[in-house]
Amino acid sequence: MISIKQLLAQTSGGLTSNIIPTAYNFTPNNIHLPVSDEVFEDSIPTIDFSLLTSGTPEQRSKIVNDLGKACQDWGFFVVINHGVPESLMKVMIETCGEFFKLTEEEKQEYAGKHILDPIFYGTSINGAATQVLFWRDFIKFFVHPKFHCPSKPIGFREISMEYSKRTWEVARELMKGISMSLGLEEGYVEKAMNLESGLQLMAANLYPPCSQPEVAIGLPPHSDHGLLTLLIHNGICGLQVQHKEKWVDVYSNSNAFVVNIGNHMEILSNGKYKSAFHRALVNGTDTRISIPVLYGPALETVVSPAPELLVDNETSNPPAYAGMTYREYLEMLQARINAKIHN
Ligand code: SIN
Ligand code: FE2
Repeated sequence: MISIKQLLAQTSGGLTSNIIPTAYNFTPNNIHLPVSDEVFEDSIPTIDFSLLTSGTPEQRSKIVNDLGKACQDWGFFVVINHGVPESLMKVMIETCGEFFKLTEEEKQEYAGKHILDPIFYGTSINGAATQVLFWRDFIKFFVHPKFHCPSKPIGFREISMEYSKRTWEVARELMKGISMSLGLEEGYVEKAMNLESGLQLMAANLYPPCSQPEVAIGLPPHSDHGLLTLLIHNGICGLQVQHKEKWVDVYSNSNAFVVNIGNHMEILSNGKYKSAFHRALVNGTDTRISIPVLYGPALETVVSPAPELLVDNETSNPPAYAGMTYREYLEMLQARINAKIHN
């Protein structure tokens, strides 16, 4: 497996023909695209976090309501006034950028194979349903229940640890708000999903400039497997969310979090809240870095629709998902990836 950087170096000083290798050509295999690829001007909802934690009871109840609506209509929202220092977000992005500048040898030390590998460096992953390569290098590492992190570059561990603690405080409050928006008690999601032993997966994506951005893709349309993902980026656009069968650009300030509902929150809410498809585009001039942190249940927790959401209405609202443990779910994803790689 080679990184995009190596690929560019191999083609004598960087793709002089400006034609990217055909393996990166995503367009003919564009199987997951929604009916319309037209992008429209509509922006995802914004949630003022400070109102959730220190607003008046009226403000709190309104923001819980807004949160529920955002989860239901979009599955995506932008969180502002969250209290995580902007300087920490900035240094996190810089340090992840430094990681990608390590030598290939240093990075290959972390090369991963399995979705549950504690640290996983990868590049140009094989699309789940095609043999297309993606214009992305990434590093993923589990920071909870046990903390893992590459030891290079200097400071990466400390910064990641601090960042994971601070983002967890935000994620936890959001999960309380989401529980309440479903009519459940505020600690419901945390307790039902055993978040004390829950999985927290930190990732950094690097999307180098691409000479043919219109045919390649950074990340194809997908949904996230956890409960909630909090993402920051280096100010370069590229993330799009599928909304009403169109792709919508996600804009956010450098001090905001882009948050999305994952598959397991969709399951827990019995489909009321949407784990929306999203994708990352690449561009011809700028390197894009994004850092998603994904919060999931504990591995052995069986996730199924919350019984409290079914009781009143069992006939018109039957459980739409079968229960399985988070581990089984992840193993199922891995089996699908393996099947595609070997076929
Ligand atoms: C992701 O979905 O994991 C990352 C999306 C992005 O790079 O914005
Ligand atoms: Fe994602």
